Amino acid sequence: MSNPATPDASQRSAPGRLCWSREELLASSPVEEPLIAGEVRCHGGFDADGRYCSPRTLHRTPAIQAWQDQLRGQGQPLVEIPSALMPPQYPNLDQARLLLRNGVREPLVRALTIISIVEGFGAIIRDVQVPDLRQLLVEPIDGTALAHLDRGLFEAHARDESGFRDEGGHKQMWEAARDLALEHPKVPGDVLMRMMGRRGARHRPERPFPELDPGLERMLLMMAQVLVVEVFAEGTFDWGEQLLSDPELSAAPEAAGALVRHIRSDERPHVEYLRTALSELRARTLRTLDGRTRPGREIVDAALHRVLRGITRDRPREQREDLRQNLVAAMRGAAHPGALLEEFEALESVWTPPARTGFEPTGSPAGPAASL
Ligand SMILES: [Fe+2]
Ligand SMILES: [Fe+2]
Repeated sequence: MSNPATPDASQRSAPGRLCWSREELLASSPVEEPLIAGEVRCHGGFDADGRYCSPRTLHRTPAIQAWQDQLRGQGQPLVEIPSALMPPQYPNLDQARLLLRNGVREPLVRALTIISIVEGFGAIIRDVQVPDLRQLLVEPIDGTALAHLDRGLFEAHARDESGFRDEGGHKQMWEAARDLALEHPKVPGDVLMRMMGRRGARHRPERPFPELDPGLERMLLMMAQVLVVEVFAEGTFDWGEQLLSDPELSAAPEAAGALVRHIRSDERPHVEYLRTALSELRARTLRTLDGRTRPGREIVDAALHRVLRGITRDRPREQREDLRQNLVAAMRGAAHPGALLEEFEALESVWTPPARTGFEPTGSPAGPAASL
C-alpha cells in the first residue's frame, strides 16, 4: 500500500486503489458543457453525449468503491439505513398537487425553500474536526475512507451542498428548480428565522458516550446524523422531482425535474462515503479515555439508533407544524377554502415509525425503540 501522503504514481489508475490525495478526491471529470441552473453556473456538467457528470467524482467514486470492496473482502458488513424508517414528506404528493391545482403556492414555496436552506447547511461538514484516529483506534486506518475524511471527503461534500467559489451547489440548484417550476414565486421572508428558532429550541443532549474522546464522539454523532439525513433526503427529493416535473403543475417540468435528478445523482457519494467510514469504524476497536477499549460496533450502532429514533420521531411532527402554521392563511385566496382544507386533511398519510431501528443496543429486545 502506498503512503497516504505521497500516492504512488503507478497506482493512479489502478482499480482498487486505496490511497488518494486531497486534490484527487476533489477532482472533477472534464465536461463539454457546464450546468446552468436558472442563471447560475453550477457544479457538474455534461459530457460529449449529453450525460450529466456529478462534480468531484472522477476519483471519489472509484475510491469509495475500493474502500467498500476492501471492507467486504474483510467480511465486514456495510451499514444500511432501512428505507422503512424514512418518514413521508409532509404535505404528501397528493396534498401538494391539490394545493397547486387550487393556486395555493405558499406552502410549497416554503417547503422547497427549506430544502435549499438545509442543503446549504451541509457546508458545516467541512468544520468537523477529525481527531487523531490513529491514536484513538486500535487497528490501523491506512487506505480507508476514515483516513480520507479530512483529506478531501468532507470538503467535497461541503462544496457539493453549498457551492464553491463561483459555482452554485445544491442550495442554488434547488432555488433554481423552485423558481423555474413556480415562476419566481415570492419567497416568505421568515423561513430561515423559523428554522434557526427551532434549532435553538432543541434540547441539547448530554454526551451519550462520555467514555470516548470528545472529538471522536462529536465526529461520530455528526456523521451518523448526516448519513441519516442524506438517506431520508431521498424520499424528499423523490417528492420534489415528481412535483416539479409534473407538466400540469410546473412551468418548467423538464428543466426543473432534470435539476432535481442531477442533485439526486450527486447525493450518492455522500451516502456511500459516510456509510463506508462508519462501517470501518464499526469494524474497529475504540480506545476509551480511561485506557480501556470498546467495540466500534457497539458505539456506532448506539449512535445510529439514537439518531434514527430522534429523527423518525421529530421530523414528521416538525414538518407538519411548519406547514400548518400558515396553511389556513395560505388557503384564504382559494375559491372554497373550507372545502379545500377538508379535502387536504382527507389526503393525509398515516405513518407510524417502525418499532425498531435495527441498531438497538444488544440486550434490549424492544427496549428504547418501542417508545418511538
Ligand atoms: Fe445535497
Ligand atoms: Fe448530500
